[in-house]
Amino acid sequence: MTTTLITGANKGLGYETARRLIAAGHTVYVGSRDSERGRLAAERLGARMVLIDVTDDASVAAAAKTIEADGGLDVLVNNAGIEGRGAGNVVVGAADTTAEEMRTMFETNVFGLVRVTHAFLPLLHRSAAPVVVNLSSGLASLTGVTAVGTPAYAYPGVAYPASKAAVNMITVQYAKAFPGMRINAVEPGYTATDLNGRTGTQTVEEGAEIIVRMAQVGPDGPTGGYFDASGPFPW
Ligand SMILES: NC(=O)c1ccc[n+]([C@@H]2O[C@H](COP(=O)([O-])OP(=O)(O)OC[C@H]3O[C@@H](n4cnc5c(N)ncnc54)[C@H](OP(=O)(O)O)[C@@H]3O)[C@@H](O)[C@H]2O)c1
Repeated sequence: MTTTLITGANKGLGYETARRLIAAGHTVYVGSRDSERGRLAAERLGARMVLIDVTDDASVAAAAKTIEADGGLDVLVNNAGIEGRGAGNVVVGAADTTAEEMRTMFETNVFGLVRVTHAFLPLLHRSAAPVVVNLSSGLASLTGVTAVGTPAYAYPGVAYPASKAAVNMITVQYAKAFPGMRINAVEPGYTATDLNGRTGTQTVEEGAEIIVRMAQVGPDGPTGGYFDASGPFPW
């Protein structure tokens, strides 16, 4: 029996990942920062719901306590994230990027991921086959954003790609520190969700593919890697 927590699973890629992992036999906790949105999603999915705001120490600690009391955790999917688009769904470019915007982005995408991982490490250590999947992005790839003529090159934002590049580094460092766990970063691809005002070109079914796959890696699977649905992704 595999128990899995997916943060920000009340909608989007997290919700679709929950649906697929439940179908694969996992006991899934839908993490949601809003109790009503979480309750409705969990009810539709046949999942458990845990209230968790990744930016809040007390909320994350309470979620860890609840899941520990229920029997522990095997798989953590750090999915909650923001892209922080401005008015009219426009990406904030370099000229308008402020320290405050960076702080807000990092609070969720980076500090939130570390806060949650740190709180759940004791539970993961007790699992026979612990797995962590970190939601990165293709925009975290230095190779990608410097490849002239590609959509990644053309993306004007600073804060979001920087936050996801930090996620990649965190993934590598955690993977080295905890060789008994499988810890990987994934790029789901440009997917139509609320995050990007539904401008993404993939469906959530397509986007969740690599998340679901990496959530199911066995103890002999890869760790410290960065993958999209077609395989290893260039850093
Ligand atoms: N869509 C893409 O094209 C794409 C591409 C690459 C990577 N990603 C990554 O994939 C992940 C999921 O994104 P998505 O596209 O599915 O976006 P989404 O539909 O906007 O879902 C984001 C989820 O994160 C939750 N969330 C945001 N801040 C939170 C917080 N402080 N605490 C707890 N939950 C929080 C949201 O909750 P609320 O409903 O309460 O807001 C929502 O459930 C993100 O990490 C994103 O960066 C997405």
